[in-house]
Amino acid sequence: MSANISASAQHVDIHADAILIIDFGSQYTQLIARRVREAGVYSEIVPCDIEAGRIRNFSPSGIILSGGPDSAAGDTAPSAPPLIFELGVPVLGICYGMQTMAAALGGHVAAGTTREYGYAQVDNLDVDGLLSGLVDSLPDDRDVDSADDRTRIPQLDVWMSHGDRVDTLPPGFSAIARTSNAPLAAMADSRRCFYGLQFHPEVTHTRQGQAIIERFVHDICGCANLWRTDTIARDLVARISDQIGDGRVLLALSGGVDSAVTAALVHRAVGERLTCVFVDNGLLRENEGDDVMTAFCDHFGIDVRRVDAEARFMDALAGVNDPEAKRRIIGNTFIDVFDDEAATLDNVAWLAQGTIYPDVIESAGAATGKADLIKSHHNVGGLPAAMNLGLVEPLRELFKDEVRALGRELGLPSSMLDRHPFPGPGLGVRILGEVKPEYAARLRRADAIFIQELVASDWYQQVNQAFAVFLPVSSVGVMGDGRRYEPVIALRAVETVDFMTARWSRLPYDLIDRVSSRIVNEVDGISRVVYDVTGKPPGTIEWE
Ligand code: XMP
Repeated sequence: MSANISASAQHVDIHADAILIIDFGSQYTQLIARRVREAGVYSEIVPCDIEAGRIRNFSPSGIILSGGPDSAAGDTAPSAPPLIFELGVPVLGICYGMQTMAAALGGHVAAGTTREYGYAQVDNLDVDGLLSGLVDSLPDDRDVDSADDRTRIPQLDVWMSHGDRVDTLPPGFSAIARTSNAPLAAMADSRRCFYGLQFHPEVTHTRQGQAIIERFVHDICGCANLWRTDTIARDLVARISDQIGDGRVLLALSGGVDSAVTAALVHRAVGERLTCVFVDNGLLRENEGDDVMTAFCDHFGIDVRRVDAEARFMDALAGVNDPEAKRRIIGNTFIDVFDDEAATLDNVAWLAQGTIYPDVIESAGAATGKADLIKSHHNVGGLPAAMNLGLVEPLRELFKDEVRALGRELGLPSSMLDRHPFPGPGLGVRILGEVKPEYAARLRRADAIFIQELVASDWYQQVNQAFAVFLPVSSVGVMGDGRRYEPVIALRAVETVDFMTARWSRLPYDLIDRVSSRIVNEVDGISRVVYDVTGKPPGTIEWE
């Protein structure tokens, strides 16, 4: 059931309490931001060379310094702006963040000769602060009833990943955790509310990690639980209404999660003044177009214009083999079709887009020269500035899991929210080489069979992306008494957290067997099915 959200409902300032996360380049920085938000508090990631003025404007309730690949023992190591230690707000340094904090406040960091990586048990020495009362185990369970229980030190199971370590505490600090390797595994100056953790509370391997984050943001920074799906939905609806006034909004609906949630949200804010355009490029999954129309037109009553542009895309793609050329053509044709449709609508002043927070962080990374963080592909929805429309991007602050939760709050079906990602160029990059309508038809059917069997065997949600690929090479097979000489379907299923690296899924043989027989028997013009056992790297997830 969707909650009763309206722009006029009682307004909560969801940004009233906020944690600023200063990024030193750790692969876990986004995880820190997500954990803070899971604790109900808004968080924002900024680069470590952020200007002091921006920090003041942000007015954080607390600051977290992320880990990073540099050595705080070196002279050229990046450091946090000194202002953060003068604002009078709590600061938590994690891994490199702890080391740079120690160095900045008068302690010393020793360069490591060996790396401590993986699980570790730390003695929790804290009595009244960040870690106090948190325990995973006591050192020797046989002594549980012994008289000196009080003297026994609780242990925490944590995840370590560091080379350097703090070897001299800054003035005012004491050690609050230790291991045999790292006597200063965590430090605190509880008077100023400055804390450092050598281990990573943001990764799930640190069993009390979320409790530590919650302790920091709620008990130490005093943040309230304002960042919740219901308050976020209300806030966004109110902000969209304010931004748009009585204007009309246009949105390109793709069937993906981000544009779907944007549509539901904008519709909540402006009702019939939203018009969506759904371009059927002939490269969609089976029934995708009909499903989108059912969900948005029939269920929500949103004005969706479906444009059947298959022929236009296929004509533009005829004779083109190169993957990047195909991507460009699909992207440009999309823009042309969308433009033509937009030209038939009067008085549109706004364009709504489903940009989400990781897209924003990645473009900020591009601006600071960390271009290696960026995926080379762009979503097809990138529309030209020449349209001269104001941009509405209500999901700019949200992570993907927050977008899904918001979609649920707004009443979108799970079949739409919990679907595997689908690339903008669609089946265009899953038909190797030249794209033809008859190849797309065969691939669509084979893909649907694969997905049906994954769902039926409860494997769909255990893999992060699964699909079929059409290989236009002919292979010999037999069917009944006849010989076949026809193209091949490859199946791909991967497990991944960030889609930057991936492991091929160890699907059960009998499941692959069922999918293979169904495809060869039910899809005309396919003689053979193969399973892709390439990880990423060295492979990419898509075949093109
Ligand atoms: P690769 O193939 O680069 O894919 O390992 C990583 C993730 O990105 C998706 N992908 C795309 N998404 N436009 C998109 O919107 C594209 O051109 C594109 N190419 C790959 C892919 O499906 C996977 O989730």
